Order: sequence, then C-alpha cells, then structure tokens
Amino acid sequence: MKALVINGPNLNMLGKRPKEHYGTLTLYEINDMMVKEAEGIELEFFQSNSEGEIVTEIQYALGNFDAIIINPAAYTHTSVAIHDALEIFDGIIIEVHLSHVDDREDFRKINFIRECATVTFSGKKEGSYIDAVRYLKNIK
Ligand code: DQA
Repeated sequence: MKALVINGPNLNMLGKRPKEHYGTLTLYEINDMMVKEAEGIELEFFQSNSEGEIVTEIQYALGNFDAIIINPAAYTHTSVAIHDALEIFDGIIIEVHLSHVDDREDFRKINFIRECATVTFSGKKEGSYIDAVRYLKNIK
C-alpha cells in the first residue's frame, strides 16, 4: 500500500498558526508521527501553496499510488480544479482537516472536496492525520 500525503496552502506554517484550531506541531512533526504510525504503508509527502502544483501532484498519483491523504486547506472551500483532479483518481481518497471545518465560519462549510472523498477525518488536530493512516492500515 502506497499513499501520497498532500498538504495545501499555509500548512507549511503549522506551529505558527492559531493553536486552538491547528494545534502546536509543525508539519514536519506531523509527517514524522505518520511515518511512525504507518508500519508497512509507504508514505510520500508533498506540500504546496499553489493550486496548480497540487492538481499536478494529484494527476501524478494516478497509477503510482493506492491512496491519497489530502488536506487541501483553504482550497477545500474554493477549488473546482482540485475536485476535478481528485475525481480522476481511482484509489482511496482521505480528506483530512486539523480543525472542525464543518463547525467554523460559514465560508468553511462550502466544501468542494467532500464528495470525492472515501472518508473524512477532521477536528482532531494532528490526530486527524493519524486516523487517516490507521484507516489505511485497517484495509491493507
Ligand atoms: C484546514 C481548514 C481550512 O479551512 C483552513 O483554510 C486551513 C486548514 C484544517 O486543517 O483544519 O488552512 O484545512
């Protein structure tokens, strides 16, 4: 089982973002926790602040990965392009959010990604990413 972990804009700034929503860990520390949890699942990591780069990375996953774990960050609420790229992917798609996106501002309730996702984990800060890895371990 090979999974591509994609993180969207401003997630490279974790550790400096509002802690009540996003916790205290850096993205590097979260990636490290995921690797420790992975046991037999191969993880590759990608972060970008650019919508087009994320689309290209999702296209690259087709044929190369069994699963995508994606936190599209702010693009969750705006990106038809990321939705359309995910629609092409034929493996498992796990949507992840650190915060409870559905219980925050109204603009975060708009979600272009959800209908493409096999499953969503949100609201548990770094624990949402760990839940995503555990989900893959259970179906491995
Ligand atoms: C986020 C939630 C988004 O609304 C926000 O724009 C982010 C991070 C989360 O992980 O909780 O940057 O995806």
